[in-house]
Amino acid sequence: MSTILIKNGTIVNEGALLKADILIENELISKIDTQITTQADKVIDATGLHIFPGVIDDQVHFREPGLTHKGNIATESKAAIAGGVTSFIEQPNTVPNAVTQEILEEKYQIAAQTSYANFSFMMGGTNDNLEEILKTNPRNVAGIKLFLGSSTGNMLVDNEAVLEKIFSSTKMLIAVHCEDEQTIRENLAAAKEQFGDDIPVTQHPIIRSAQACYKSSSKAIELAKKTGARLHVFHISTGIETDLFRNDIPLEEKLITAEVCVHHLLFSDEDYNTKGNFIKWNPAVKSAADRAQIWQALLDDRIDVIATDHAPHTLEEKSQKYAQAPSGGPLVQHSLITMLEFAKEGKISLEKVAQKMMHNPAILFKIEKRGFIKEGFFADLALVDLNAEKWTVTKENVLYKCGWSPLEGKEFTTKVVSTVLNGNLAMENGIVAENCYGKRLLFNR
Ligand code: DOR
Repeated sequence: MSTILIKNGTIVNEGALLKADILIENELISKIDTQITTQADKVIDATGLHIFPGVIDDQVHFREPGLTHKGNIATESKAAIAGGVTSFIEQPNTVPNAVTQEILEEKYQIAAQTSYANFSFMMGGTNDNLEEILKTNPRNVAGIKLFLGSSTGNMLVDNEAVLEKIFSSTKMLIAVHCEDEQTIRENLAAAKEQFGDDIPVTQHPIIRSAQACYKSSSKAIELAKKTGARLHVFHISTGIETDLFRNDIPLEEKLITAEVCVHHLLFSDEDYNTKGNFIKWNPAVKSAADRAQIWQALLDDRIDVIATDHAPHTLEEKSQKYAQAPSGGPLVQHSLITMLEFAKEGKISLEKVAQKMMHNPAILFKIEKRGFIKEGFFADLALVDLNAEKWTVTKENVLYKCGWSPLEGKEFTTKVVSTVLNGNLAMENGIVAENCYGKRLLFNR
């Protein structure tokens, strides 16, 4: 049996800070107490460090199979571990699209061999794969993903009758990308008319407008209410959408939940001038007023989860003109530290960061024995120094296969010092262990 004893850290868990030791035996947390004196194979001195449950990122794109020039499960999960992200849920817009059980299982096979972090993959829905969707195993697949607006991968589901059938036939969690296609098409045509082939990136939030988001998400929510479906709306980017969600019932009872991504909390349309296509995402980064309203909804629990939508594209791809440059950017290595910098600025508490990035994804997806620092749970931990020496994100220190970050030049005084994964020290001082692999997530349902 291998044992690790983590001494003298400050545990951030379930709404409180607690100075205590953590004993790990094999893959599980076996004891949390002040002054544990049990002998262990390895003792980690966490004096001055904060210990969070490992981040569970419920929306990433790791590009394998088929788009591995942008990233693959090994490279991107390694970056995740470096950032304190111990579990991820990956999306189906890989090539081929993960829209049959066979293709989906192939992704699980690749991850079982190569993923540095714990993993799950969403089953993709299309206009014509209901039968395949209904074969999805709720015990070992995170959920069903539907693109109700087109993005990378051409997986638009736009047949309303099919949508209603999917919503009313499955009890599984349905996660949706909401942007109204017709609205976007009209806005894009107007921009082309005005700017020809040289549409400036500042048009992105005008083309992929707040109205496009609202129209699509409000429709999806209406359908979920009508059918009783379990709906999770990904990457809320506008103020007007935030009122579609409730905070008067506990998360465990919600049938309609919401996610926000780090970039929508960080950037606003003022940043297009300096960052250009490198902050081009779908849905688009919108106004500072939208950002403020999203923050408010996050803090008052209308928004349940913080994720990244980690979506690497190559530098060459992103360096094209606006219309050709794909949407998306890599963030998984820097999501936790970005939120913790916000915490140090007083915008959110450390406990709330733990709630939104660790506890709530576990509750929302019913992930078995993860997301909390609890005896009997898997030892997935992020040990963080909130008073680290100042360092800067550069091309040299990003681990993403694409080799760039939208945060380049940003200074941090927060650092993930170590990551523990299933009871193993998976990262120490920035070095990710080569012999430490993730497990398939299981779900209590
Ligand atoms: O900006 C985005 N990029 N949004 C998505 O929903 C998909 C993602 C990608 O896969 O590139």
